[in-house]
Amino acid sequence: ACLVGSEMCIRDRHTIARLALGLADDMLTTLALATRAPILVAPAMNPAMWTHPATQAHVQMLQARGVEFIDPTYGVMACGDEGWGKIADTPTMIEVVERRLKRTQELAGIHVLVTAGPTYEPIDPVRFIGNRSSGKMGYAVAQAAAERGAEVTLISGPTALDPPAGVKCIRVQTAEQMLQAVQEHFEACDVFISVAAVADYRPERVYPLKRKRSQRAWTLRLVPNPDILGTVAPRKGHRLVVGFAAETGKAIEYAREKLQRKGLDLIAVNDVLEPQSGFEVDTTRLTLLYADGRVEPLPLLPKRIAAHRLMDAVVERLHILAGKSGVPDRSHLPDSLKSP
Ligand code: PMT
Repeated sequence: ACLVGSEMCIRDRHTIARLALGLADDMLTTLALATRAPILVAPAMNPAMWTHPATQAHVQMLQARGVEFIDPTYGVMACGDEGWGKIADTPTMIEVVERRLKRTQELAGIHVLVTAGPTYEPIDPVRFIGNRSSGKMGYAVAQAAAERGAEVTLISGPTALDPPAGVKCIRVQTAEQMLQAVQEHFEACDVFISVAAVADYRPERVYPLKRKRSQRAWTLRLVPNPDILGTVAPRKGHRLVVGFAAETGKAIEYAREKLQRKGLDLIAVNDVLEPQSGFEVDTTRLTLLYADGRVEPLPLLPKRIAAHRLMDAVVERLHILAGKSGVPDRSHLPDSLKSP
């Protein structure tokens, strides 16, 4: 039994390493490279091997590419060691796989409104005040909602991205235009997710013609833009309202303050000074803060996967909302969301 156990340990470790490195020297690893299907891995190995930095580095590489792990559970191994290394039980594995497959239609009948990208606040016809948002995070959120069957309206600031398939995209330039578009679509939505990096200030005066260069200093007077999320959140009613927070230090503290001040159900915070997280890049490390005080840190993930983790949280909150008494009629929701 010990020999069999050891062989399994080694095989599982090797498989994870080969998957991480993209080696394709047997049927399993060849299929894993070739498939476009989601990949789930349920490892079993000696606890010291599982927690070894070499194994965990490969696990993180795979997670960053979207592979999901059904983590081993605690118990006594075939070799006699005790710890986190036993393969997850079959019902757990089936549940995880089912949840993964169910994602396809679980938001059918739900209208999700998403804002994404920056806003550009014009100074003159050629210059503007903006920020580094590429729109990648917001577009990934819109795509994740659409992949789960939601009807999605994406209100996007200027970006170089194509809208995800099946998503209605409304393009705007300025914060005031974004506010107007959000107000037009907020009434009809069930979930509002505000990912846009809205410029907090705009030039007080917009020059009708290109302002000529000179050697003299130029002072621009800025006036505050409307807070889009802060404007619509007080009218949320039965809706689920989710914010994002881009912070540069004390991220959790500041995000919690925004969550409370704006009356949100959930806020996803990212420290944009952290490498490979935040603006422009393809990955992000989000922490989800819930209105009930719960804190859920996510690992560094591709924005596509982080968006799905956020949608998992949205689905969970919708279940809770649908189960609360006194909530307005939600009979239009699919059966899966009518009760907790
Ligand atoms: O677009 P990417 O390059 O992929 O980058 C992703 C991102 C860093 C932009 C994204 O992950 C993110 O953090 N988005 C929120 C950016 C932001 O403006 O954060 P904030 O902390 O300043 O604002 C808090 C919330 O209020 C946000 O939901 C924001 O959309 C909203 N807001 C802010 C200002 C304003 N005038 N109106 C708003 O609605």
